[in-house]
Amino acid sequence: MFGFGRRELATPVVDIHSHLIPGIDDGVRTLEQSIEVIRKFVEIGYAKAITTPHIHPNYPNSKDSILNGLESLQNRLHEENIDFEIEAAAEYFVDEVFMKKVNRNENILSFGSNYVLVESSFLNKPLFFESCLFDLQSKGYLPVLAHPERYRFLEGDLEWLYELKKMGVFFQVTISSFAGFYGKMPQKIAKTLFEKNMIDFLGSDLHRFEQIHFLEEGLRNQMVKKLSKSQFLRNASLS
Ligand SMILES: [Fe+2]
Repeated sequence: MFGFGRRELATPVVDIHSHLIPGIDDGVRTLEQSIEVIRKFVEIGYAKAITTPHIHPNYPNSKDSILNGLESLQNRLHEENIDFEIEAAAEYFVDEVFMKKVNRNENILSFGSNYVLVESSFLNKPLFFESCLFDLQSKGYLPVLAHPERYRFLEGDLEWLYELKKMGVFFQVTISSFAGFYGKMPQKIAKTLFEKNMIDFLGSDLHRFEQIHFLEEGLRNQMVKKLSKSQFLRNASLS
């Protein structure tokens, strides 16, 4: 299922990765900026976004900071009469702080059928990442790796990703990666993951209005169009 906001775009109806709660991470700074992005989301065919602020050493958000910000944003959407559904989860940086939360059975911000969006350092291959995700799974969560195509430490070697896939980790590829927004290597890895049917979710990972142009470029990509129509893509299951 996909939107028809613009005829040439095949927009998944639900976005699962963005930074649209103002002022709490490296995403939008103000409610006005958030509204500006969401108006554009509606125009290009999205009906809903599950926005995912960072919970990261640089942005130590809590469930409260995220849900309070979500409420303000929802109120503003209502005031502006914008027909768009927005929920919040988080993009968790997998580190000791995160694992303590998992092992203490703290409530982890998840979406859909208990999916949890996770990321790692881009530069250094994380130690214990697999065992962390295994612990997360054993607590009943379904880890979704954010932008597997962008981890620079892979240097084109996808073995780490294949291992995660074998463990049952879901993959969220960022739409603008298909248009080369992050460079040649992420574009190439996105293509390989597409060819190997390893993409479970598409996401915008939108941080600011200026990135919309690249998102639209990605939405014109033939692989993205095929994925958006594919029954294997899980975005529509969250509508
Ligand atoms: Fe992100």
